[in-house]
Amino acid sequence: MSSTELAQKSPGLATGLTSSSIGKKLFVAITGAALLAFAFGHMVGNLQVFMGQDQINKYAHALQGLGAALWVIRVGLIVMAILHIWFAVKLKLENWKARPVNYAYSNTVQAGLASRTMIWSGLLVFSFITYHLLHFTILATNPEYKSLTAMLNGQEVHDVYSMIIYGFKQPLISGFYIVMMFLLAYHLSHGIKSMFQTLGLNNERYEPKLNKLAIAIATIIFLGYISIPVAILAGLVKLPGGMTI
Ligand code: HEM
Repeated sequence: MSSTELAQKSPGLATGLTSSSIGKKLFVAITGAALLAFAFGHMVGNLQVFMGQDQINKYAHALQGLGAALWVIRVGLIVMAILHIWFAVKLKLENWKARPVNYAYSNTVQAGLASRTMIWSGLLVFSFITYHLLHFTILATNPEYKSLTAMLNGQEVHDVYSMIIYGFKQPLISGFYIVMMFLLAYHLSHGIKSMFQTLGLNNERYEPKLNKLAIAIATIIFLGYISIPVAILAGLVKLPGGMTI
């Protein structure tokens, strides 16, 4: 047998992993875990808005100060997101191909709505993140936020605190974020369960506990994130005295 034939018959580890269904599931689970860690960390970081202007500005300024390391993290996140979506979509397409006609009654009832709509909730969350980057990172939707600055230890820094308040003082924007964060939590509630299963952590004894843990993590993320627009709309977190853009 020639070496080309041999290579075709026994694909390398990476090719084997990405062509098998379990390999793709593993990629979705591992990249999902990394994205979940980011979502949790970002929520904790954002909650510092409740500790005042200096605290959240100090945090945002420290992140910016990471320089090249911040770009390594950003590129890592983008790669994780692309791989997560790529393999999830591939799995879904294979699923559809294998079962072009829906069963009349079926496991879909058992599977639950969150499970059946993962691909759609995931793609909607991805479009939300694109909007969110244009809103708060690139400032393309609101270039006036670039002019927001504050003093921090004698240094002029970007006033992330006021930017968040200006952003969420608008009920439509806050409402949109809240709906999207509900979708994110909905996606996570099933995603975390699936992740446990793919990583082999699920067995009959632990399954009910792990399912509860998945719902608890998704709920914490939902409540943590929405507490910010809700508190701003309720006037509990305010702009520094007399500030306008
Ligand atoms: C109340 C909700 C949220 C607030 C207040 C918020 C706030 C912010 C702010 C202020 C930035 C810009 C940081 C900077 O440039 O200094 C940012 C960036 C970002 N946010 Fe959010 N965010 C929220 C929800 C989310 C959610 C639900 C996700 C997705 C899970 C998310 C993902 C990101 C990403 C990927 C970045 C870019 C990070 C970077 O490249 O530096 N955010 N967010």
